[in-house]
Amino acid sequence: MDRIRIVGGRPLSGAIPISGAKNATLPLMIASLLTEDTLILDNVPRLADVNLLQRILGNHGVDIMVGGKRPGDTEYQGQSLHISAAHIVDTTAPYELVSKMRASFWVIAPLVARMGEATVSMPGGCAIGTRPVDLLIMVLERLGAAIEIDGGYVIARAKRGLKGGEIVFPKVTVGGTHTALMAAALADGVTVIENAAREPEIGDVADCLNKMGAKISGAGTSRIIIEGVAKLSGARHSVLPDRIETGTYAMAVAMTGGDVMLEGARPELLQAALDVLAKSGVQISTTNTGIRVARNGGGIGPVEVTTDPFPGFPTDLQAQLMALMTRADGTSRITETIFENRFMHVQELVRLGARIHLDGETATIEGVRRLKGAPVMATDLRASVSLVIAALAAEGETMVNRVYHLDRGFERLEDKLVRCGADIARISG
Ligand code: EPZ
Repeated sequence: MDRIRIVGGRPLSGAIPISGAKNATLPLMIASLLTEDTLILDNVPRLADVNLLQRILGNHGVDIMVGGKRPGDTEYQGQSLHISAAHIVDTTAPYELVSKMRASFWVIAPLVARMGEATVSMPGGCAIGTRPVDLLIMVLERLGAAIEIDGGYVIARAKRGLKGGEIVFPKVTVGGTHTALMAAALADGVTVIENAAREPEIGDVADCLNKMGAKISGAGTSRIIIEGVAKLSGARHSVLPDRIETGTYAMAVAMTGGDVMLEGARPELLQAALDVLAKSGVQISTTNTGIRVARNGGGIGPVEVTTDPFPGFPTDLQAQLMALMTRADGTSRITETIFENRFMHVQELVRLGARIHLDGETATIEGVRRLKGAPVMATDLRASVSLVIAALAAEGETMVNRVYHLDRGFERLEDKLVRCGADIARISG
C-alpha cells in the first residue's frame, strides 16, 4: 500500500492548478443514465472515485470513452469523458460496488426515471457517520415510485413513469437534492423541491441537465422547480472547479506560510471558508486567474466556526481547518453539525502534538508552538488531507498511511505541492 512521506517546515510558493470538482463529477456522470445520447463531460478530475464510478456505470451497460490529449493541453488539464448509456442492460447496482462508494446509490433516480425500475444496494454506514438514505427514498415515493426493501436492497418501481410532486426536505441533503433533480427531470408534470441543498455542485448538475433539455429553475436557491420532460438528449458540459480542493490548498498555504496562486479557483464557491481564513490573518485576493493566498510573517489567529450547508462553512473543510488551528495563537472552537462522527482526524493530529479536546459535536483546539512528525493514518478522505496539512508544518518526518483515501479525492496531490516547494513524496508498496 502506498504511503506519503512529508518533511515539514517549508513555506509554499508558486501556483497550484485546481481540478474539476469530484462532488459535481460523480452526479454528472450518473446523470448520463437519463439519456440514450452521449453526454460529454470536460474538466473531469483523475480520481479513484471517478474510476470506480466508471466501473459501476459499466455494470449498467454504460460505455465511457476517455478523450485523447489535444495540442496545448497541460499535464494538469482535466480529462474529457464521452459517456453513452444508449443501452442499459442491467438496472441492479450490487452491494460489492455500492458499498465502495456511497454516491453510487444515486443511480437509483435516473434508472427508475428512465427504465421504470431499479434495484440498488443500501450503502450502509461509513467512517463519518450513519448516513441514512431515508430522504432519498422519500423523494422517489413522492414522485410515485413503489419502494420495497429486500435483502439489503432498495427496489424502486414506477412502471408507468414517475409523476411530478412536492418534495419538502426536513433537513438539507445534497444527495437527496441530486436524486430529486434527476428523478423529476423525466417525471410527468411539475415538481417543486423545498429546502433544497444550495451547494454549487447542485447548480452545476442542474445546468448540465438543462443543456440536456430539462426544465429546471431555481437551482442554487432553496426552492427548485422542475417541469418534467419526456426525453433528454446529449450535451457537453465542463465540470466546475473543486471548492474543497481550493480550500484545502488555501489552508495548506495558511499553515506553512508563503504565497500561492490557486489557478482556476472561484471565490464565490467558498466565500465562508475564505472569510474564516481572512479572519485568522491570511491574505486572500482574487485575480482573473484565480485566488491568491498568502501569509508572510504574521501568526495564525484562532477562530470559532460551525459547519453548515452551503453557503455556510463546509463540513468537507472542517478537518483541514482543524489542522490549521492546531498552530494558532490561541484557542479555537470548531463545531460539526452535518455528520455526527467526523472527528477521526483528532486522534491523529494529537499524535503530531496537537492539543484538542472533544465534547460532543464541538472540538476545542488549543494552538501549540510546534508539531512534530509521526506516522499517521486516517479513515476518510478529508481527514487524511488534514494530516498532510499538519505534516507540512510539523518538524521532521511524517508518514501518512492509507493513501488510497487521498487518491479518491485529490488529483496529483504530491505533484501539486512539490511544485510549490514542499518536501513530499509517495512511497510505493
Ligand atoms: C455530499 O454527501 C458529499 N458527497 C459529501 O462529501 C459532503 O460531506 C456532504 O454532501 C455534505 O456537504 C458527494 O457530493 C459525493 P447529505 P451526501 O445528504 O449527499 C443526512 C466528501 O468528502 N441525511 O447532504 O451523502 C446525513 O446523514 C464527501 O467529498 C439523512 O438523514 O450528504 C447528513 O447528516 C463526504 N437522510 C446530512 O443529511 C438521508 O436520506 C447531510 O448529508 C440523506 C442524508
